[in-house]
Amino acid sequence: MTTLSTLNKFKKDGIKFTCLTCYDAMFARMMDKAQIDTILIGDSLGMVVQGHNSTLPVTVSDMAYHTANVARSNKQALILADLPFMSYVTLADAIANSRQLMQAGAHVIKVEGGSELCDLVTTLANAGTPTCVHLGLTPQSVNVFGGYKIQGRTDDTADKLLADAQAVVAAGAALLVLECVPAKLAKLVTATVSVPVIGIGAGADTDGQVLVMHDMLGMVHGRVPRFVHDFLTDVRNSDHSIEGAFALYQQAVREGSFPTEQHQFS
Ligand code: KIV
Repeated sequence: MTTLSTLNKFKKDGIKFTCLTCYDAMFARMMDKAQIDTILIGDSLGMVVQGHNSTLPVTVSDMAYHTANVARSNKQALILADLPFMSYVTLADAIANSRQLMQAGAHVIKVEGGSELCDLVTTLANAGTPTCVHLGLTPQSVNVFGGYKIQGRTDDTADKLLADAQAVVAAGAALLVLECVPAKLAKLVTATVSVPVIGIGAGADTDGQVLVMHDMLGMVHGRVPRFVHDFLTDVRNSDHSIEGAFALYQQAVREGSFPTEQHQFS
């Protein structure tokens, strides 16, 4: 079974690892079979499962329900679950809501933000709950950003992102996610911090890669993001099966053939 120690060893040894979002039992079983290293019950479920146009309507109960469905059915992967929008503004809320997700089967709690999360990260770590801090394009802040935009493109925003990453790691964060940031910045953050960094739209140099499951199966509503590859119709997935797509993604990330330059931002 994959644990945080496994991912730390992967980072040390330069072995790239996979993460996919997952929201239900059947896909969790298939990911188990394909040996996907980590699974994220992402609040992206608000968009791909519930049909909202952002992640904001997702509740802690929704997250606990989907986390339990996945956790029951996957034996191998490290399971990350998102605390949804406004569910961790106070430490008391963060503790109660993390407890609910951990008791539903999560191994790590993911939160979006920067150095303002340091107290929360330390408090949860001291209470036996590892955190993954999501930086860069943090979809819960879409209304602050004014849209889903690449982050960290100016010197000031890049410096701030690096400082935020260092601060949350010093506070005890176990993992980082970097979303939609220039590949050069993601490489720098990954080389600077001691914990594994998972990228999405962040280039090939992060320690791990994550994609939304629906995206990598070609089920995209509207514009296909630059960082997405359709592994279902990829010729290397000869029978175009879902299990084949998961296995191909695992293989492509491990061997370094995904992502390529065409999937990254500068
Ligand atoms: O909710 C989600 O699926 C995520 C990933 C895009 C990293 O946060």
